[in-house]
Amino acid sequence: MDIARTPSTPDGNPQLADAPPEPKQPPIIRREDYTPFAWLVPETRLEFDLGLERTKVRSTLTVERNPAAAPDSVLRLNGDGLTPISITVDGNAVNDFAMVGDDLDVPLTGEAHTVAIETEIDPSANTQLMGLYASNGMLCTQCEAEGFRRITFFPDRPDVLSTYTVRMEGRAETFPVLLANGNRTDAGEAEGGRHWAEWHDPWPKPSYLFALVAGQLEARRDSFTTMGGREVDLAIWVRAEDLPRTEHAMESLKRSMKWDEEAFGREYDLDVFNIVAVSDFNMGAMENKGLNVFNTKYVLADYETATDGNFEAIEGVIGHEYFHNWSGNRITCRDWFQLSLKEGFTVLRDQLFSQAMQGEAVKRIEDVRVLRSVQFPEDSGPLAHPIRPDSYREISNFYTATVYNKGAEVIRMMRTMAGPERFREGTDLYFERHDGEAATCEDFVKAIEDGAGLDLGQFRLWYSQAGTPRVDVALRHEGDTAILSLRQSVPATPDQPEKEPMPIPLKLALFDRETGTHRGEQLLVLDEAEAEIRYDGFAQPPVLSINRGYSAPVSIHRSVSPADLVFLAAKDDDSFARYEAMQELLVGHLVAAVEGRLSDTERGSGREAIGEAFGAILADDQLDDSMRGELISLPTQSYLAEQIEIADPGLIHEEREALKAWVGERFATQLGAHHDRTSAVPFGLDAAAKGARKVKGQALVYLAAADPAGSARRAMTQYERADNMTDRQSALLVLAGLDVPERQAALDDFYRRFEGDALVIDKWFTLQAISTHPDVLEHVEALADHPDFTLRNPNRVRALYMAFAGNPHAFHSADGRGYRMIADLILALDPINPQTAARFVPSLGRWRRIEPGRAALMRGELERIAAAPNLSRDTFEQVTRSLG
Ligand code: PHE
Ligand code: ZN
Repeated sequence: MDIARTPSTPDGNPQLADAPPEPKQPPIIRREDYTPFAWLVPETRLEFDLGLERTKVRSTLTVERNPAAAPDSVLRLNGDGLTPISITVDGNAVNDFAMVGDDLDVPLTGEAHTVAIETEIDPSANTQLMGLYASNGMLCTQCEAEGFRRITFFPDRPDVLSTYTVRMEGRAETFPVLLANGNRTDAGEAEGGRHWAEWHDPWPKPSYLFALVAGQLEARRDSFTTMGGREVDLAIWVRAEDLPRTEHAMESLKRSMKWDEEAFGREYDLDVFNIVAVSDFNMGAMENKGLNVFNTKYVLADYETATDGNFEAIEGVIGHEYFHNWSGNRITCRDWFQLSLKEGFTVLRDQLFSQAMQGEAVKRIEDVRVLRSVQFPEDSGPLAHPIRPDSYREISNFYTATVYNKGAEVIRMMRTMAGPERFREGTDLYFERHDGEAATCEDFVKAIEDGAGLDLGQFRLWYSQAGTPRVDVALRHEGDTAILSLRQSVPATPDQPEKEPMPIPLKLALFDRETGTHRGEQLLVLDEAEAEIRYDGFAQPPVLSINRGYSAPVSIHRSVSPADLVFLAAKDDDSFARYEAMQELLVGHLVAAVEGRLSDTERGSGREAIGEAFGAILADDQLDDSMRGELISLPTQSYLAEQIEIADPGLIHEEREALKAWVGERFATQLGAHHDRTSAVPFGLDAAAKGARKVKGQALVYLAAADPAGSARRAMTQYERADNMTDRQSALLVLAGLDVPERQAALDDFYRRFEGDALVIDKWFTLQAISTHPDVLEHVEALADHPDFTLRNPNRVRALYMAFAGNPHAFHSADGRGYRMIADLILALDPINPQTAARFVPSLGRWRRIEPGRAALMRGELERIAAAPNLSRDTFEQVTRSLG
């Protein structure tokens, strides 16, 4: 087919002949356009001459024609900001290469060749933290998703698997430790105070899993014997002064390795496993083969500087990256649209691991809270996308809660429907069938289907349809029959106006109100738009407990009496359902209050129902504290906003604070008693002591809402007596929100105590940015000028500004100052670190769901960003989608 040719811009974008010259837009990449690469690259040899300001890279690729692809007479190698210094093919200099944008085309005529290319880079100038960069005097790499092309020219796509050999040489004084993927095969001294090391990774891998680290590091060492008897040397590399804070990470690593053998039959496959902690990192951590690189935040911990939450997060992230060795590395992704293949599955694996280590019920509640307060808003906003997206301009923008957390929920549903044993047969088959391959989500689904014996035909819609399904539930009673009717709908999302019904696995139970028991839990898969189910033998209307354990990532809508919710909150034998009943009670009341639907009497009776449930939870001495802590937590403001079509964030905040103060006042005695009781529990790592610290922190929050002055003294005492960061932080959080003299004293003390300790100073920034204090905006403005603040360190940027953007009463200040602050930040950060800058756009992007006055201000800021010249691809894509 040959249609009239349209003139092209130099980058290949078609452009109409007479149209005014448009500013160049980054192209859209589409899933349906996938084709295999024309060349295979069986071997890659990389030689690095290391320097902080100048690193020379020589790469030698053996290439041969890919029999599975259409033949091509050029080898297209991706680059990003590189200039080739020399190019040879089979030892002969090449001059007829071509630069196509940032990429390099090398003409190749034969079946197989050796291509060698030299480049030079400046790691110290790399503020994007993608590719090879300098951090704290050391060199490290970050290559996922497309960072390798900033190091050397290469087919930088996950379906090109190659065996890597890496030689590094540099000054021994600057770079005493030289690490790369796989096993170290050789090392030696060189002239002029230099030394070198050579590493070989026997497992073929895509370029995004390449890693190199060089610097002054010390290791905590340990070892692990695998189920097959392989002795693995483990090392966690950090700066010398951080060594004492690596014990928990090492213990977490050993537990992860053991658990993956037991739960998934997965054994480690190299002689060494290295983890390196770096303080400048865009994300949490990275699963490079045999050489994981971590944000220090997910490695370093001791009880004086890290909270219980930090300890749990470290265990989860260490597990996550380790589990990628099979779900991500041994089986990788064919293309970046398949990202959830590795991320959704690996998040599920880390969630199951943490559930096994930390307790099932509470971890499940925490995971659902994250899903609903982060992923639900994404799914209902302008950036909504399926867990397997159809198109992108910049893949970094798709490392989202949808791909990760909803992706995990989708696979968890398969597990729920199959049961854990048959699910395991499915994953066994997946690992066996696709080991060594770059696979697709479809390959995964098919393997589970075949291995677990499930029909997932219609279920595949979960991969292609965006939006959180809504399930409307009603239960009526006729004679001695209870009739349950269910109706599902999947909301329209950008580019997907029409949706089809999906299979929704709902665990449910019907409770007898008299006895407080049910006849057994049922798993019902709602796979049509509507269904009606009859249950005989109920003389009295039963109480319905539905979506138990949060068996499906949907939002349930039902009209249910507060009395039934109070019943479930007290009696349900499913811990998640208890928590859920409590949340439903609170959400129902708060949403009605915000929407102005409550008369004074209704407000009173609503609070009474909440009070009844709270009172029972506070008085229940059968309940362990960690569960008590969950049951008394208020729904997040973002989850509340999600329940309201057009929200007024100011009102949500006011109503939520008012309820907090009411609870604090009504239960002042009981909460005070809990605070006293838990304060007497000595520090320990056991679940009971951890639970006590959680309840202690929450009791203080409620008490402070009711009685700021009185509670300030209580908080100060907790702060001063604290022998661990959990207690110290929960006290300071409360103090930071109060307009009391103790506030500044405590903040100053905290700063002096931990000055120079970056991870703790991050907390100091965050506590002030998330506080309920009326002057947060001024505080954040002042903190941006603090000598410890820098745009160069993503942890610090997030500590101040992500925290602020997640603090509705300040961010949504009605005069628009909060929006302006975030827009200014995005514009200032974009040229330095576009990936991190773009992550702030979604907070402004939800303008359609906000009341008109603020919505106009938010939109105005997005337009101001969009109009800026030279926006990065990352920010450009997010801003245009948000305005679109
Ligand atoms: N693949 C990493 C993970 O999920 C996340 C990551 C993505 C890190 C991109 C860095 C860059 O564990
Ligand atoms: Zn991951």
